[in-house]
Amino acid sequence: MNAVELTSVTKRFGSVVANDNVTFAAQVGEVHALLGENGAGKSTLMSVLAGLYRPDAGTIAVNGAVQHFRSPRDAIAQGIGMVYQHFMLVDSLTVAENAMLGQAGHGVRLHTAPVERELAELGQRYGLAVDPRARIWQLSVGEQQRVEILRLLYRGAKVLVFDEPTAVLTPQEAAGLIGTLRDMAADGLCIIFISHKLDEVLAVADRITVLRHGRTVTTVERRATNRHELARLMVGRELMGVVADQPQAVAGDAGVVNLEVRGLSAEGDKGVRALQGVELQVRSGEILGIAGVAGNGQRELAEVITGLRRATSGEVRIGGQDTTRCSPREIVAAGVAHIPEDRNGTGLIPSLDLQDNLILKHYRQQPLARGLFLNGAAIGNFADRLLSKYNVAAPSRAAKARLLSGGNQQKLLLARELSGQPRLIVAVHPTRGVDVGATEAIHHLLLAQRSRGAAVLLISEDLDELLALSDRIAVLYEGKVMDTVPARGADVGYLGLLMAGGAQSGAADHGRPMDTGGIINQDVAH
Ligand SMILES: Nc1ncnc2c1ncn2[C@@H]1O[C@H](COP(=O)(O)OP(=O)(O)OP(=O)(O)O)[C@@H](O)[C@H]1O
Ligand SMILES: [Mg+2]
Repeated sequence: MNAVELTSVTKRFGSVVANDNVTFAAQVGEVHALLGENGAGKSTLMSVLAGLYRPDAGTIAVNGAVQHFRSPRDAIAQGIGMVYQHFMLVDSLTVAENAMLGQAGHGVRLHTAPVERELAELGQRYGLAVDPRARIWQLSVGEQQRVEILRLLYRGAKVLVFDEPTAVLTPQEAAGLIGTLRDMAADGLCIIFISHKLDEVLAVADRITVLRHGRTVTTVERRATNRHELARLMVGRELMGVVADQPQAVAGDAGVVNLEVRGLSAEGDKGVRALQGVELQVRSGEILGIAGVAGNGQRELAEVITGLRRATSGEVRIGGQDTTRCSPREIVAAGVAHIPEDRNGTGLIPSLDLQDNLILKHYRQQPLARGLFLNGAAIGNFADRLLSKYNVAAPSRAAKARLLSGGNQQKLLLARELSGQPRLIVAVHPTRGVDVGATEAIHHLLLAQRSRGAAVLLISEDLDELLALSDRIAVLYEGKVMDTVPARGADVGYLGLLMAGGAQSGAADHGRPMDTGGIINQDVAH
């Protein structure tokens, strides 16, 4: 039985047709995945279903009856709830208080105990353990997501929509969530799951619907499809996949050390030691991958190198110059490009248009600046050239950055960062939330930068990505480099062990192929 059915739904934003006559149905007891490139219209379609947007045309039926939602509250009254990427929780309230928020009459009903009990039961049933009395600010991102889910279940949601829920989770948490989704479907709920990760989709879904350019391409059974076909359906062409090629001969200063990190220590936001005596070298024409579970110092490492965080000890040298105490602007001037983890925080300015975002780093230079003034025509040309070179899908250079889909925001950021011919690129999760086509494009851009002679420090949680792109891989655990190995022929089991903190010291004694590129696999004494 169809739990929900969208028929001929069209949704426009100005001149953009985000959903063009889309028909989509999900059944009771299934996990139905929604796939599509960045900007294909997935979030829009689900926001229509969840009552956030009103469609320009088309209908929504719940259990066979047509409904007209004017708000998310109307939708939840019909049992439809959505877990957004940005959680809608009140930080200062407890889990139970958040669950009660917005419910009719919650002001009079002051008893939280029954709610807490019910939340605890729901948590038990679906493997969503979280203390109902904890305040939101005390919880990790993964726990906050559980609260969002529990809140919907508490309100009687029978259809739960997840918009890229695993993008914010560690691999372990993602695996847990996938188990939860299967349990919920087995219990008769209808789960709609959006993700760019094909492996996840294949692991969790019963059926898969593919959207392309705002239209439905097809719906397929999980059993009758595979990665290859899904990628082709999404993109409308064959994907080549990234060739994990040999380190290439580079022109110019081949093999020169562009980044050298020595004995680097730094504190995290909470004053704990986030980096402890890190030693790294990245040469021109080389990609050094940094593997590790999130929260093991990756962010701090990128921040210290790019001047956003102070080192407590140790040294960073970029192109031979000591930049340990330099400002971010001086580090940019030393030839460093930064693709940060939060593209909407340190990366882009969402409220500015594309053109202004593109010139953020270059506006002081000729020909964009003419004396004290900016040269409008030159800036326009510069922006248009980058938008087309980097294939950013956008109505015009005057569009606001926040209106681009996730993948296009990422391409915009790369366009700006890579256009300055950087000597060192610090790329943090460069393909997170990015579709397979754009992921491929970004991989090629990074490889092209390597061939050009840039040194690339690639931080990623995706081992496959690291193995495909890197020349060498270093594993960070609790702020320390556990070992550095050549990517080619690397033993995934060994890397996983290091990521879990195993083989603490003396990794070299295990007879593993060790890096011989001048890296000291340190066991720094503290
Ligand atoms: N509030 C909005 N105002 C204007 N345009 C919008 C708005 N929301 C989405 N769009 C546009 O509608 C199209 C579909 O966007 P949507 O967010 O639904 O894509 P998506 O498939 O979820 O992409 P992603 O995988 O990047 O999340 C895009 O071109 C996007 O720029
Ligand atoms: Mg989306």
